[in-house]
Amino acid sequence: MPADLTPAHGLDASRAARKDEHVALALAQQRRAAEPDASGAAGPGASPFAELDFVHHALAGVDPERVDLGTTIAFAAGPGHAAGTWRWETPFYVNGMTGGTERTRRINRELAIAARETGLPLACGSVSVALDEPETAPGFTVIREENPDGFVMANVGVGRPADDARRAVELLGANALQLHVNAVQETAMPEGSRDFSSWLRSVERLAAASPVPVIVKEVGFGLSRGTLRRLAEIGIGIADVSGRGGTDFLAIENARRPGRAGDLSILSGFGQSALACLLEAGAASGPAPVLLASGGVRSPFDVVKALAAGAAAVGVAGAFLAAVDPERPGGGAAALIALVEDWRDRTRAVYALLGARERGGLLATDLIVRGALREYCEARGVD
Ligand code: FNR
Repeated sequence: MPADLTPAHGLDASRAARKDEHVALALAQQRRAAEPDASGAAGPGASPFAELDFVHHALAGVDPERVDLGTTIAFAAGPGHAAGTWRWETPFYVNGMTGGTERTRRINRELAIAARETGLPLACGSVSVALDEPETAPGFTVIREENPDGFVMANVGVGRPADDARRAVELLGANALQLHVNAVQETAMPEGSRDFSSWLRSVERLAAASPVPVIVKEVGFGLSRGTLRRLAEIGIGIADVSGRGGTDFLAIENARRPGRAGDLSILSGFGQSALACLLEAGAASGPAPVLLASGGVRSPFDVVKALAAGAAAVGVAGAFLAAVDPERPGGGAAALIALVEDWRDRTRAVYALLGARERGGLLATDLIVRGALREYCEARGVD
């Protein structure tokens, strides 16, 4: 039996409450995104991916059975690990979300079963709570129990002591370490940290202490060209741009403010979408990390758009959380397995239509950029 993870058994009550509130508020956002829009049409509303289209070439298609959905991510040697490559058979993965309470332990268990059955890489949420309060560790280690051989990413926030990189990786026997940089969320969070000026140095220290490759990620506000360059300069080889338009942590933290004092909804819409980050990074010269993309991915077409804009793989958090939520009738690992299989089939169908036998082929497609995304590209000098 896993340890009882309720606050009454040692976990700091506000920290536990925050984990469960994040899940509840993120699920509420997913429900709203799935509601019919003002015209009555069912659908997801304004998606950050709607502003990128492909030119259709009617004779360019390939046969779906000849499509290879796999992706390869290369990384350089670091102080704690050798150079190498990861081969993922599916170009999308479960992004970092949660752990540390009884409810989130159940979610991680369902996510881990689904990842095991589909072979998807899986990240957990920040394990800082388990490093500080070891009685909460079962909320995370359940991932390895259910998925002993899968590709698992541990997760910690910037600002933690360097040795936490090693501790987080060891907790899960992780293959990679996600390191989240979330200044907007921390600013909006009543109990958030404010020591931003130390963050670049902290990223460098945590990465140097990590026994596995590090993926620096945002949590839904994007990584600019300048940020990616600074990360490359300190030796970070992989970054998830995690842009806006999906799970909105500004809205989540604003909703958690008692009496809404200090509400930061004035920042609503702050940050860049994943596509804006990818297109901007693709036009930059000089060293850059390998890019992963996430933020607002709601369909396999979004996955293909992100890959065509330069991502090596695509992370999905909120949409997979909604499928796996054990408190939803029909929610759980089986629902996520079915969703992943469906996404895989439809991703393959879109590759075939676009004439791409593998991910590299998507980079040769003709893209049309519209609306605010086009404006952003023009303002940033992206052709
Ligand atoms: C997150 N996310 C996140 N990221 C991270 O690096 N560490 C974390 O602990 C969490 N926690 C978390 C909780 C919940 C409930 C959600 C839904 C998300 C952010 C996540 O990895 C991703 O960057 C954003 O959610 C944007 O992707 P989606 O949700 O739009 O697909």
